[in-house]
Amino acid sequence: MPITEEQVQSPLSADLQAILRCLHCDARLESDQSGGFVCPACQRAYPKVNGIVRFVDAQHYAASFGFQWHRYHKTQLDHDEVRESEQHFLMKTGLRPEELKGKLVLDVGCGMGRFAEVATRWGGRVVGIDLSAAAEVAARNLASREFVALQADVFALPFAAQSFDIIYSMGVLHHTPDCEAAVKALAKYLKPGGVLAVWLYSGYNKWYRFSDFWRRYTHKMRPETLHGILRIAVPFFYHLDQGLRRVPVVGGPVAGAIHHVFPVNRQKEPEARMLDTFDWYSPKYQSKHTYEQVFRWFEAMGLEDLHVAELPISVRGRNPLQPTK
Ligand SMILES: C[S@@+](CC[C@H](N)C(=O)[O-])C[C@H]1O[C@@H](n2cnc3c(N)ncnc32)[C@H](O)[C@@H]1O
Repeated sequence: MPITEEQVQSPLSADLQAILRCLHCDARLESDQSGGFVCPACQRAYPKVNGIVRFVDAQHYAASFGFQWHRYHKTQLDHDEVRESEQHFLMKTGLRPEELKGKLVLDVGCGMGRFAEVATRWGGRVVGIDLSAAAEVAARNLASREFVALQADVFALPFAAQSFDIIYSMGVLHHTPDCEAAVKALAKYLKPGGVLAVWLYSGYNKWYRFSDFWRRYTHKMRPETLHGILRIAVPFFYHLDQGLRRVPVVGGPVAGAIHHVFPVNRQKEPEARMLDTFDWYSPKYQSKHTYEQVFRWFEAMGLEDLHVAELPISVRGRNPLQPTK
């Protein structure tokens, strides 16, 4: 479904214009007639294409995510009966609704917008950026919210320094070529007193060893091809696992061994199972981290008041009100 002009306009647009900066000369951007932006200093244009302003010229290594979020555009989106993303938001950031209310928030790697949905429901005014075409899906999913999606790269963000009250990034920065550099790129965009919260894959358990092995090959496949293979493999291994577990004595260990070598997600809901398994096998980059590492990065950025949240590896920290000497 194409995105209409009305869907991508929001009251946030004026705030956004005040903080948007040219990637090349850092000048303040002006809107152009097509709804995109242009730099008055160096004439660089940032066009609006299919309803989204583009600060990158391609999805680069993130094309599989573009495919994934277009294909599973609502699977993880909360609704009246299901509040799973809200639970994840709490467990991965430790941020409470009252901390987001009225705040200008940056969602780094927003995907199809499930966490921005929570943040806007809690009263945050959210700018979501994503390297992939998932930004289009987020804009569509959150068309009625205080939300603007941009296609942009965490390593080249089009914002003035000290623009945001809260920046969060969940399940994203370990999918970049350099997770440490990606985390460290974010602190400069925090206002004094602003909070950065990240959730990264944990390096503590080793369940992922085999999926990492297979992923060396699977990430090179076209997303459509990999998805086609998984449409057969995921139900096969899932039902094999369920069947074996009913066999007394040997069933459990055999099922465990097969799952270890050929991991597929074991959620009850078939669509969620497919989505999460595709998400394991498709990304080019997928690093794992420890609290020790991430605390060192946060300290190096000068953030203080460091906390962990419930799900490893989740760390948040605050930009000092006064710069440290
Ligand atoms: C696993 S998805 C997570 C999406 C969302 N945060 C969620 O949890 O539903 C990872 C997202 O990170 C985005 N991403 C990867 N590298 C990025 C980069 N350099 N800049 C911005 N987004 C990036 C991908 O396009 C993808 O949508």
